[in-house]
Amino acid sequence: MLGNFTYCNPTKLYFGKGAVKNIGKELKKYGRNVVLIYGNGSIKKNGIYDEVVKILAECGKTVSEIAGVMPNPTVDKLYEGVEIARKAKADLLLAVGGGSVCDYAKAVAVSVNCDEDPWEKYYVRFEEPTCEVVPVGCVLTMVGTGSEMNAGSVITNHKTKMKVGHVFADESVMPRFSVLDPTYTLTLPHYQMVAGIYDIFNHICEQYFSGEDDCVSDYLSEGLMRSLLHSSRIANKDMQNYEARSNIMWTATWALNTLVSRGKTTDWEVHMLGQAVGAHTDATHGMTLAAVSLPYYRHIMPYGLKKFVRFAKEVWNVDPAGKTDEQVANEGLAAMEGWMKELGLVMKISDLGVTEDMIEGIADSTLVMQGGYKVLTRDEIVQVLKECM
Ligand code: NZQ
Ligand code: ZN
Repeated sequence: MLGNFTYCNPTKLYFGKGAVKNIGKELKKYGRNVVLIYGNGSIKKNGIYDEVVKILAECGKTVSEIAGVMPNPTVDKLYEGVEIARKAKADLLLAVGGGSVCDYAKAVAVSVNCDEDPWEKYYVRFEEPTCEVVPVGCVLTMVGTGSEMNAGSVITNHKTKMKVGHVFADESVMPRFSVLDPTYTLTLPHYQMVAGIYDIFNHICEQYFSGEDDCVSDYLSEGLMRSLLHSSRIANKDMQNYEARSNIMWTATWALNTLVSRGKTTDWEVHMLGQAVGAHTDATHGMTLAAVSLPYYRHIMPYGLKKFVRFAKEVWNVDPAGKTDEQVANEGLAAMEGWMKELGLVMKISDLGVTEDMIEGIADSTLVMQGGYKVLTRDEIVQVLKECM
């Protein structure tokens, strides 16, 4: 581990069946006015809404609501929510939902007391908040993004065709507390469950496929990936398996709460490609990642061959005896492809609505990252996107 770093994660987690009961003691730390933020109604169908509202009432809170936060939340929805939170004089933003709802709550949190345009400030200029940040708490209902324990917030602007994530350096943007009850995730449709599983896997890959030094983060990553493969195969056959679903939930948190990025430059180019596809199609986040991953990894493999060999051996149990490094690395990626197909992930961007004439526009929306094994040129982005069709 050769890099220097700082590590601090202030989010308090409550994990397990019935964990929501703990929010009472958290709510006491904040003022009266709570803005409850949720998506398009799944929490009303599965009873989570009623449970949370009851606790808020017992704690004597005045509750306002921002409902209808869509998957891949938009900047227009952000402006709307900021007005609601201002009017409510929010003391706490309580997000109840998946990554979209949690990310959105953070975006509102940094915008309520900000007199500049939040899109320009946070998602174009990538500035840190210079105003007071409203505290956020999360009750997680969908597993994948890690938003419950990080300072990331992804917002989509359909006008400029940009889907942009800002990982805030300011720790006050991180949720103050998050509730992780695996039973809350049991009503997820299969499509969302597997999209989330691939999101987790790719978060780990994005951090793992960078750097050459012997780094404890890589060993932690391999452990997380092995656990995820094991549990995902069980959950894929038996979606109601609590043990598998709880392991997946906990893996998701550790995959993207800054732990496994310590000491690493990190890549994130799969996310940049996936987010560009998302900006043009509004497709499910995890599926956009699945559809761009293999062509991208096959493209960069020669530049990071040693790590791809290690990935094949340590994560996919490829036996290297009598094989060249290229063969071992390719077998690893083939095993990954097999697992992705077993889960039923979307493997092509054309299956997410991308047509040939959209490729140049998607390339325009793709940010180029510097920390991986190969910094992509514009031509390489177009080539990889074409290979994803
Ligand atoms: O809107 P509702 O009705 O709640 O339905 C949601 C939504 O349709 C549904 N859902 C959630 N919990 C459910 C449920 N349905 C039944 N039962 C439940 N218990 O699932 C659908 C997807 O939800 P969403 O929140 O959009 O999914 P996810 O958690 O994957 O979040 C995706 C967003 O997070 C961003 C993505 O770009 C995307 O905008 N990301 C955030 C990151 C971060 N903060 O660090 C990193 C990620 O890489 C990612 O970019
Ligand atoms: Zn992701």
